[in-house]
Amino acid sequence: MSLNFSHPLWDTFQKDLESAGDVASLSEVRDRYLSRTKGLISLEMKQLGKLSPEERPVAGQRLNLLKNAVLESLDQALEVLKKTEADSRLGRERLDVTLPGHEFRSGSVHPIRRIWQEMEPIFVGMGFQVVEGPEIESDFYNFEALNIPESHPARNDQDTFYITPHTLLRTHTSPAQVRTMEKQAPPIRIVVPGRVYRRDAVDATHSPMFHQVEGLLVDRNVTMADLKGTLECFFRALFSPDTGVRLRPSYFPFVEPGAEVDISCPFCSGRGCRVCKKSGWIEILGAGMVHPRVLTMGGIDPEQYTGYAWGMGIDRIAMLKYQIDDLRLLFENDIRFLRQF
Ligand code: DAH
Repeated sequence: MSLNFSHPLWDTFQKDLESAGDVASLSEVRDRYLSRTKGLISLEMKQLGKLSPEERPVAGQRLNLLKNAVLESLDQALEVLKKTEADSRLGRERLDVTLPGHEFRSGSVHPIRRIWQEMEPIFVGMGFQVVEGPEIESDFYNFEALNIPESHPARNDQDTFYITPHTLLRTHTSPAQVRTMEKQAPPIRIVVPGRVYRRDAVDATHSPMFHQVEGLLVDRNVTMADLKGTLECFFRALFSPDTGVRLRPSYFPFVEPGAEVDISCPFCSGRGCRVCKKSGWIEILGAGMVHPRVLTMGGIDPEQYTGYAWGMGIDRIAMLKYQIDDLRLLFENDIRFLRQF
């Protein structure tokens, strides 16, 4: 752009224009010369009135030419700047669509949660209600109410994590039995899943924290045959329809009679293998008929009602079902192991 006459503002404008390197400073230059109130050219236009009538048209025409030249130069410079800014932005933002994408890893369900998700609907289908109890328990519910005498070895602090002399981390899910009886009149039909704690050293079959599910049913005329039938039904649904269940006499202070319950080995169908140590059976839970003293503790008349109860290890069942041979794998959180579920 050129002007075929000389004007001091044109010279300074050219310099200002040259040093304006981006769109923002270009608009400052525009204001400096053309803003209605303070622009240098606008101010000169206002001075025209002071000139003599002869000088005025010439000076006015020169200012108009100057103003047009300035406008045109600004527009051209703006075009150029916009284009270079766009080019450099496109350069910066270049996207290589051939690069490999980021792998999106989804989580997986922990084997303990997963086995519970398989067990829960079977119990619910048989009419059991799922309830929970506190992990921090009183010695009353954990021991006393379950007919576990003061001298019982389980009360020893070698076996139990005590928090205070009368509070502890529950050593089993059984305390939920009396807690439920206190709140609810028979018929009672509950399962109680949850964490339990014992002072055990960690090895392939022991952990200071593990999981159990307690079962409790109290009603009129409940017998040991109901217990066996329920467990048979449950294990056949969980493992396979030919799973056998057997009861062996055993002792737990809160049941009478008490039993240890075995299932036929799901790996060899009872023929004998490494997992069942050639016996064909796997011990899987403790159970029995609720002791009359425990019913009484829960406010239930043992002359009118009977009940059965069991406590089974969820971790052990998960290990059997998913063929995991070391309990530690469940708690070490090795992502390579957990991702298989
Ligand atoms: N509470 C027992 C334990 O942790 C398991 C148990 C045995 C629960 C017999 C019961 C039962 O309800 O009747 O070793």
